[in-house]
Amino acid sequence: MRVKDKVVVLTGAASGIGRATAILFAKEGAILYISDIDEEGLKQTYDLIEDGKNKVSFTKLDVTNLADVKKAIDDIYEKHGRIDVLIANAGVVRVGQVEDFPEEDYDLLINVNLKGTFFTCKAAVPYFKKQRFGTIITLASVAAHIGQNNHANYCSTKAGVLGFTKALALDMAPYGVRVNSVSPGATDTPMLRSDVTKEAKQRGISFEEVRKEFEEQGVMGRWAEPEEIATGILFLATDDASYMTGADLRLDGGWTTR
Ligand SMILES: NC(=O)c1ccc[n+]([C@@H]2O[C@H](COP(=O)([O-])OP(=O)(O)OC[C@H]3O[C@@H](n4cnc5c(N)ncnc54)[C@H](O)[C@@H]3O)[C@@H](O)[C@H]2O)c1
Repeated sequence: MRVKDKVVVLTGAASGIGRATAILFAKEGAILYISDIDEEGLKQTYDLIEDGKNKVSFTKLDVTNLADVKKAIDDIYEKHGRIDVLIANAGVVRVGQVEDFPEEDYDLLINVNLKGTFFTCKAAVPYFKKQRFGTIITLASVAAHIGQNNHANYCSTKAGVLGFTKALALDMAPYGVRVNSVSPGATDTPMLRSDVTKEAKQRGISFEEVRKEFEEQGVMGRWAEPEEIATGILFLATDDASYMTGADLRLDGGWTTR
């Protein structure tokens, strides 16, 4: 029970990595607040939680709405007088060549991946500074480290998350607050499957062919399961990572090692 009775706030918990993280943190005894813009998916995550369910609360939340994010974080702090762990996980992907990339897709990427991460941290940072402990975890990506075909705008948002995380780590260090990111490689979630489906359609090849390409990027030759990313997030949330700040934990099956 590595996060027993820690107050943990997690965004983007309706699916994929967020869902696996919610299930793991609940099992590890956290007082867990999960949110997502997708209320139905969020309810499904809640229903899937067995161990530790009595300490889990869920609420619909769009991370691009600062007033709503602030209210959610304010309410949690008011109730517990602390936030131990903040996990800014909500994210979206859109693929396409730059010349064809619709402006609305670009805005969505910026708004959710960058602004959403910023808003989630902006709402919680005053409390972290006041309490002078805690840890913040953001979701970057292999796409923050390397170029990926057809992903120019997604890559730019994730490189932005990485820069944001490192800079925030410097600002928060004097307050005893650690700030780190996780960079998953290809992880088998609805996001990756929709990404692969769109890419296959755009390139006129099959889902399996694109999947194979993704699998071959990592030296382990397979996609990660969302649970394998959740365990990395858990590590960063615990005192096991007590000397880690401003770092990025690459859970990419060796993708960026090539
Ligand atoms: N799956 C991968 O291969 C992979 C690789 C690297 C990084 N990531 C990152 O990991 C994180 C989780 O991705 P995933 O693969 O689990 O994706 P996913 O699509 O399965 O889950 C993302 C969740 O974010 C939610 N979300 C989207 N917009 C939101 C908003 N405005 N407000 C609140 N919630 C919102 C979605 O509803 C969804 O439940 C993302 O930040 C993603 O960029 C994923």
